[in-house]
Amino acid sequence: MRKKIVAGNWKMHKNAAQTEELLNELIAKIPAQTNAQVIVAPTFVNLQAAVAKVKNTTIGVAAQNVHQAEGGAFTGEISADMLTSIGVNTVILGHSERRAIFQETDALIANKVDTALKHDMTVIFCFGEELKDRQSDNHFNIVENQLRDGVFHIAKESWSKIVLAYEPVWAIGTGETASPEQAQEMHEFIRETIRKAFGAEIADEVSILYGGSVKPENAKEIFSKPDVDGGLIGGAALKADDFLAIVTAI
Ligand code: G3H
Repeated sequence: MRKKIVAGNWKMHKNAAQTEELLNELIAKIPAQTNAQVIVAPTFVNLQAAVAKVKNTTIGVAAQNVHQAEGGAFTGEISADMLTSIGVNTVILGHSERRAIFQETDALIANKVDTALKHDMTVIFCFGEELKDRQSDNHFNIVENQLRDGVFHIAKESWSKIVLAYEPVWAIGTGETASPEQAQEMHEFIRETIRKAFGAEIADEVSILYGGSVKPENAKEIFSKPDVDGGLIGGAALKADDFLAIVTAI
């Protein structure tokens, strides 16, 4: 059966004390057993403390980015080796904010995917169309191209390390969410695209998360769709009760 995952992307929120506070609350309140694997992605500076805090819990920790190079003169950047050396083995790549604000191209993201896989990290690969693409009925093309350029080059054996996260840009932080039907329609298309390129086994195994204004109020309906295997949560991941309500909606 496919793995269900609910990941909280904390983006550039929560200082050290707030990170500790939110993790304490999550640890205290998370049910002993959840249907989904739970992951949190605090900022780089709080990752090491987060790893220590969640030790012996069911919560995993992810980074929000990684540099594509092994190391060197790249002021301000973080390598995959640095992340794994502190016990962070999952990384979010290709987030629309990295693409739009930090000009990350498909080629660069593909490079980062390779580096992360080389270090045996799990990659939460994000992609999704902008509003103009959906309005011009080009959303399926855009999504297919992002997949082709970002992850189609990877070896079949590496697919167990890939989690896909479909995030329509128009639904991120806007309060506007894709309808459960729109999410299912796209997730089905994504799985079919993977099936054509890599075969049924990989397509059936890969978890496809939905992201974009998921909240306690809409999580259950979105997660009830057959090709939606969980969520990548932004704003609602910053409050323990909201995040856990989403976790338990699956
Ligand atoms: O990575 C998370 C997504 O950007 C979704 O953010 O839940 O605040 O819309 P949001």
